[in-house]
Amino acid sequence: MVDEILGKHLVAVIGAGPAGLFASKILAMHGIHVVLLNRDIIPGGLAEYGIYYDKFKMKEGLHRQFQQILDNPLIDYYGNLTIGEKGDFSLSDLRALGFQALLVTVGAQGTKWLGLPGENLIGVYHAKDLVFHYNLLPPYSTMDFHIGRRVALIGAGNVMLDMAHWLIRDLQVDEVIAVVRRGPNEVKFSKEELKMVVQNLDLAKLESEMERTQPIADAVGQNVGEAKEYISSTLPKALEPISNTRFYFDFLASPTHILGDAQGYVMGLEVEDTTLICAEGEVQAKRLGTKRILDVDTVIFCIGDKVDETFGLPVRRNAFVKHPDPFYPVDGLSYEAYDPDLNRPIDRVFVAGWSREASSGLVGVARKDGENGANAVLEFLKTAPNLVDPNSILDEFRGKQKKLNKPIILKSDLKELAEVSAEEAAKSGLPAFKYATNDEMLAAMGLN
Ligand SMILES: Cc1cc2nc3c(=O)[nH]c(=O)nc-3n(C[C@H](O)[C@H](O)[C@H](O)COP(=O)(O)OP(=O)(O)OC[C@H]3O[C@@H](n4cnc5c(N)ncnc54)[C@H](O)[C@@H]3O)c2cc1C
Ligand SMILES: NC(=O)c1ccc[n+]([C@@H]2O[C@H](COP(=O)([O-])OP(=O)(O)OC[C@H]3O[C@@H](n4cnc5c(N)ncnc54)[C@H](OP(=O)(O)O)[C@@H]3O)[C@@H](O)[C@H]2O)c1
Repeated sequence: MVDEILGKHLVAVIGAGPAGLFASKILAMHGIHVVLLNRDIIPGGLAEYGIYYDKFKMKEGLHRQFQQILDNPLIDYYGNLTIGEKGDFSLSDLRALGFQALLVTVGAQGTKWLGLPGENLIGVYHAKDLVFHYNLLPPYSTMDFHIGRRVALIGAGNVMLDMAHWLIRDLQVDEVIAVVRRGPNEVKFSKEELKMVVQNLDLAKLESEMERTQPIADAVGQNVGEAKEYISSTLPKALEPISNTRFYFDFLASPTHILGDAQGYVMGLEVEDTTLICAEGEVQAKRLGTKRILDVDTVIFCIGDKVDETFGLPVRRNAFVKHPDPFYPVDGLSYEAYDPDLNRPIDRVFVAGWSREASSGLVGVARKDGENGANAVLEFLKTAPNLVDPNSILDEFRGKQKKLNKPIILKSDLKELAEVSAEEAAKSGLPAFKYATNDEMLAAMGLN
């Protein structure tokens, strides 16, 4: 029974992605009672709703690890509960209830737009929303997206390749152009992901892009031959193509304007040519003033994400602001939320994972960052008195949840959902099954 082994410290971890889950594990290992609060019904964050939908083995392994964490009786789970200024509880509400520390691990689930003219046209999307769509996260799962036949993807990271994968192998569009503001040596994607789509790559176009960019790369001491080798080394182990989609890179091009037709649909993307310069110790793109139009009908931004600015914490450079001179640094990093306008730490609030540094790395990186965040909280708790009556705080919290008049998901409900989903998968002979709406999930758990 949770109440019998209840620790004398109570911490709210907000967001049950990899950072929040692994942070909870560390806190509970140290006898802290953790209240894990999650916006989505299902825990896992981008591990559940970001990682490409057919990576069944990877997802299964992560599910197992997450389940083991949630099996710890010192961790309570409350899903379908949004925290934030416009949420079911604000940070101030949680502080007022008596939680001794709040660890914010809500990821970077805001949308990073560049503010270009035409971003509101039909056919302009942010990759995050499409990723949520094909991974069946409500409400994105049931939203309509207008994907045409010629698609420009902005960016050269792994999210760009996940998008290309979906467009080339699932939607089988005619053309996918990766528009990259820097050169071939600055691509950020991994070979593993490129293998999924490299057979669709127009190799003649790649060659001409390498020739075109070579003098510019030379000038900053780069060898495009290495970039070409990086890309072409994936060919021998590439997945067999299943579509005629033409995929190619357009390097040294920065988007400036999305053009629309009279009905509000995308009819082209204006890009500005760039060159490479060395500045502030890195190779940067410098705009040249010359512009050209790409003939596309869809534009998808794959340029990384930023945190939700409405959450209730100050934001700088796409992430929540950290104390520049932390009291409890871990690995030399600050996990303490900070108000830069008032020049003071935000009382009892810590940040970790993609909330601390947006779009930074794989699940393993988020895990480590969550663990670090938990260690910072543990150091802070050494200075906090034991709670006299943690149960009364939990009782009050549950009472307030009831007043929300909406179903709140507990660990027992998640088990039920996992069992029913496994039955559905077995019935249909699929490796996994997911409900596409909250209503279906609630019905499967007997909650509506
Ligand atoms: C498209 C894509 C594909 C990826 N593929 C891979 C891959 O193949 N392999 C790999 O290792 N890594 C992959 N990653 C990276 C990996 O998903 C991230 O490193 C990791 O999920 C970040 O963890 P996090 O816990 O910081 O944030 P998230 O995973 O974003 O989790 C945030 C959690 O907070 C919750 N939340 C959000 N707002 C609120 C709120 N207001 N109140 C309460 N809860 C809230 C969300 O419901 C979510 O559960 C991918 C990332 C993306 C974007
Ligand atoms: N399968 C996987 O393993 C997988 C899948 C998806 C994501 N992930 C991980 O998740 C993290 C985030 O991935 P990500 O692809 O979103 O980010 P990313 O790796 O940082 O790539 C973002 C891309 O967008 C470009 N970009 C950023 N701002 C831009 C702007 N204003 N104009 C034009 N281009 C711009 C960047 O170019 P510059 O380099 O010039 O800034 C870069 O090419 C990464 O760690 C990634 O490895 C992993």
